[in-house]
Amino acid sequence: MDQISTKQSGPRRRTSRRTRIGLIVMALLALATAIYAVPRYLTGNPNDSVIPLNTDVALHYLTLAIHAVPAGLALVLGPIQFITPLRTRFPRAHRITGRIYMISVVFAAIAAIVATGLSVDGFSAQVAFALLGVAWLYTVVQGYRTIRRGEVQLHRVWMVRNYALTFSAVTLRIFLVSGLALRPVLGIEFAEVYSASVWAAIFINVVIAEYFFVQRITAPALRRRRRVSTNQSPKSPATSSQAPTPDPELAGQR
Ligand code: HEM
Repeated sequence: MDQISTKQSGPRRRTSRRTRIGLIVMALLALATAIYAVPRYLTGNPNDSVIPLNTDVALHYLTLAIHAVPAGLALVLGPIQFITPLRTRFPRAHRITGRIYMISVVFAAIAAIVATGLSVDGFSAQVAFALLGVAWLYTVVQGYRTIRRGEVQLHRVWMVRNYALTFSAVTLRIFLVSGLALRPVLGIEFAEVYSASVWAAIFINVVIAEYFFVQRITAPALRRRRRVSTNQSPKSPATSSQAPTPDPELAGQR
């Protein structure tokens, strides 16, 4: 990543068809998860909670509500931020939505860390949620700091990382539903399915985000650098005096 130009420059890039389809699928899954998971924490009735509540703590349901509502908002807003034409044509809208996203994540993450302490769903899930909550906060703070410094490309990297963590709420529910359906075959307890789903969701999302960086950022940068150094080799003196072309993939793009 040492070659990354962090300031904004470079030509605009068209969003490929594959990227567009990926974004649409991601947005639909995020919306479906928010609609499925959040409304039952808006009723004010603790009996609507999907997960068992801690009977020693009267405010457990409220904590889940304070977590679920901004978390659901962040989940739905995230994909909008990755739409390149919207970012380039309406930078002000991108900034406003981005602020709402970041504030939502901060509230949701703090409530998540409290909810982790109250959870009755087992130590393994608690450890996973605690790490996820801290990483969620850390990545959003990094996303904020980098954009304040004008480091657009680094901001993009941190926000992709952050949304990968946000999206683990979707992956978790996919794994959980599949795991629960397989429970009679596997003969395992709910707690085992739950904690395995949380760990697997975090792992898969982080790996996919890092794969995205390698494929979309690091690999093209290395290829361009190799091309530039080949052009500048003593065999082609005509090009040796040229400055390396700025890398559109690495240069900050909104
Ligand atoms: C990525 C960081 C997140 C962390 C660290 C986190 C953490 C937690 C924790 C600790 C609980 C209580 C679990 C238990 O006691 O077993 C919980 C529940 C919940 N979370 Fe999150 N969460 C995150 C993201 C999200 C997102 C993006 C949503 C958006 C839909 C969400 C929606 C909910 C809901 C609705 C519940 C209540 C349980 C249920 O009905 O499934 N969370 N979360």
